[in-house]
Amino acid sequence: MSTNKALKLRVKRADLPALANQFAEALRARGQFVLWLQGELGAGKTTLAGELLHALGVPPNVPVLSPTFTFMTEYETPFGLVAHLDLYRLGGDDDDAVEALMAHRKFAGVIVEWPERATEAPSIKKTHTIRIDFTDDIDERDVEFVG
Ligand SMILES: Nc1ncnc2c1ncn2[C@@H]1O[C@H](COP(=O)(O)OP(=O)(O)O)[C@@H](O)[C@H]1O
Ligand SMILES: [Mg+2]
Repeated sequence: MSTNKALKLRVKRADLPALANQFAEALRARGQFVLWLQGELGAGKTTLAGELLHALGVPPNVPVLSPTFTFMTEYETPFGLVAHLDLYRLGGDDDDAVEALMAHRKFAGVIVEWPERATEAPSIKKTHTIRIDFTDDIDERDVEFVG
């Protein structure tokens, strides 16, 4: 997948591992990435983050859980250290909290759920965006990748 392209697809849950492999290839190609994952509660952000982390090399037996209550989980991958953030519980103008969270280590990749809470935080300046939307079919989502 080349860069600076938008791609919109309608996908089922079962399509996600293959799709995540494609997205992961595009993320790795940038050398370093910050991926904003946008969509309503239940749209599938954490599910896709899990598929992406596994595509980046997190072993299949390591579960990817929502970091809602910890804000951040770190994963060692062959690509490098990848942070998975969920900023849902931040107030909305909490860029400083994000900067503090990100300051302690250097990450090769960052996957952010609810980036809307801290859009101006320099440490999560986006390189790619995935937007997930519900469709009229409960088993399908519209997934748009920009990067
Ligand atoms: N593409 C998809 N098609 C159908 N169901 C999906 C899809 N992606 C995720 N789901 C389901 O929807 C739910 C999404 O939950 P989750 O990933 O926690 O959402 P979010 O992190 O956006 O709040 C999960 O039960 C998952 O199995
Ligand atoms: Mg989530």
